[in-house]
Amino acid sequence: MPPAGLILLLRLVLNFMQKITIKDKTFSINIPSDKIQNRIGELAKQINSDYKDKIPVFICVLSGSFLFAADLIKKLSIDCEVSFIRVSSYSGTQSTGVVKSVVGISTELKDRHVVILEDIVDTGDTAVYLFEEIKKHAPADVRFASLLLKPKALRHDVKVDYLGFEVPNDFLVGYGLDYDGLGRNYADIYKLSE
Ligand code: IMP
Ligand code: MG
Repeated sequence: MPPAGLILLLRLVLNFMQKITIKDKTFSINIPSDKIQNRIGELAKQINSDYKDKIPVFICVLSGSFLFAADLIKKLSIDCEVSFIRVSSYSGTQSTGVVKSVVGISTELKDRHVVILEDIVDTGDTAVYLFEEIKKHAPADVRFASLLLKPKALRHDVKVDYLGFEVPNDFLVGYGLDYDGLGRNYADIYKLSE
């Protein structure tokens, strides 16, 4: 059995070498799956404690958040409900700035404790749109969870109550995030190579 240090070194070398190609672009590994899962475990612990006497409604923002929402919700031990909204703002590797609701909210949210689950906050346009849409339903309160946040791209004052990782302004794919519809299936998160 090789020593733990050697295993770690081998993993680092493998990660360094790991690249994927989607259409015309190459991406290199950025956040490995074990790191994502550990961080989600910490967020779940915090949410379990914050909502221990409540029955929150989690709103998974499709499409990008489906894996984050699934992994987070599996780690929760509180009673909760799950609902979905589908929004769209990205085209290729750029935000269009116009957020569209493709499928709206179907669950009754009046007087409920709502937690929005997003994959990534980039400009913040989607987050602002989601808060506005959900507040129309008169919930008791609304919190926001996002696996990723690009602080340098943010154009609005968005409070992320449960944040996985702050990331630089790179274009990312994997773990739900797509490039032109592809790449959502990877367990790790990759960034666009220069
Ligand atoms: P925002 O409205 O500019 O904050 O962008 C939010 C949405 O754009 C996210 O929910 C993602 O679906 C998508 N998005 C933002 N950055 C990336 C990225 O780096 N890769 C893939 N999708 C992204
Ligand atoms: Mg999204």
